[in-house]
Parts: sequence; C-alpha cells; structure tokens
Amino acid sequence: MKNIVILISGGGSNMAAIVNAAHREQWATRYQARVAAVISNQAAAGGLAVAQSHGIATDTVDHKAYASREAFDAALRDRIDHYAPSLVVLAGFMRILTPAFVQHYAGRLLNIHPSLLPAFPGLHTHQRAIDAGCQFAGATVHQVTAELDHGPILAQAVVPVLAGDTADTLAARVLTQEHLIYPRAIAALLSEKL
Ligand code: GAR
Repeated sequence: MKNIVILISGGGSNMAAIVNAAHREQWATRYQARVAAVISNQAAAGGLAVAQSHGIATDTVDHKAYASREAFDAALRDRIDHYAPSLVVLAGFMRILTPAFVQHYAGRLLNIHPSLLPAFPGLHTHQRAIDAGCQFAGATVHQVTAELDHGPILAQAVVPVLAGDTADTLAARVLTQEHLIYPRAIAALLSEKL
C-alpha cells in the first residue's frame, strides 16, 4: 500500500477533498494507495478533527517549539517518515520548507498554490490578481522544488475575476476548483508514476 501524508495548517478543505476522492474513487483498490496521516503545524487546525472523523491518523508538530527552521523541518520529516510515504501532499501548509527537506522528498512532494503560477507566488495572491487587473485567476498543483512556489506544473484551473470581486469572493471561487484539480492530479500521479 502506498501511503500519502497530507500536511495542513488550517481548515483543510483540500485535504478533505482528497480524502473524499480517495474513498469515492476507491484509491485503495485502484492504486493501492491510502491517506495514511494528516499532520499539522497548528494544534488548532480544524482539518485535524475532519481527518480523525475519517479514521485517519493525525499528528501535530508545532513550529513554535523549535528554535530554527532547520530543527522544525527535521522533526517534521521524522514524523512524516514514520508513515513511509510515497507521496507528501502540502494542502494549505503555510510554512516555508528548507532545501534539505525538499530534497529529502524530491519527486514525491506536491503543493497547491492559489494562483496561476508562475504569476503571484507567495502570499495574498487573490488581492494581487485583483489589483493587477487580471481577468482570470486560478490555482496550480505543482511538484515542490527548493524555490518557493516553483517546480513542474501538474495541473491548473482557471476562473474569471468578476466585477466587484474581493479577495474573499475570488478565493472562494478558486477554492472550489482546487478541490477538483488536487485529487485529480494525485490520482494521475498514482496511476502513472508511483
Ligand atoms: C488554499 O487556497 C491553498 O491553495 C492555499 O491555502 C488554502 C488552504 O485551504 N495555500 C497556500 O496559500 C500555500 N501557499 P484549505 O486549508 O481549506 O485547504
């Protein structure tokens, strides 16, 4: 069985979309794959309870308990590797990862970013898209490399920016598409590569 470990920091709606797709599409029998654990850097992340309600193991590695980014990443890596993952999926995981961490999971570390990369890496993507006068926005699933929000693109979804959009209304429109493309990109990887 191929283990998927999902990292979250908050509500975990992308994580829930992946867990639901895995159940609905029977990834266990189709791809011999399962979501083995959901790990957060925030003990209060709402997504942890959601994962538990699906019978998935959860864990917290609190970044504030570590003196450096390197020490946090080493502890996080140990916790992730406990589940021997074939795939590590960042789903709203709001920490910058060290090159050593990224290298350790080279080729099996995915992220979803709420913009049409390479436009708008970093934070506040929706407000920046509105401020730039973009007519379209979206989300990108990509392999993670050492450079923040870069790396080979696996899937993208495009949505219109509508008159009167705020960062929140645009984020909500993009998020509905994230929930479609992230499970789809993972399923494609599971069937083709891993
Ligand atoms: C999603 O929009 C995701 O693309 C974004 O955070 C949100 C998490 O929502 N990720 C980033 O900004 C990463 N830099 P969720 O917790 O409901 O999945």
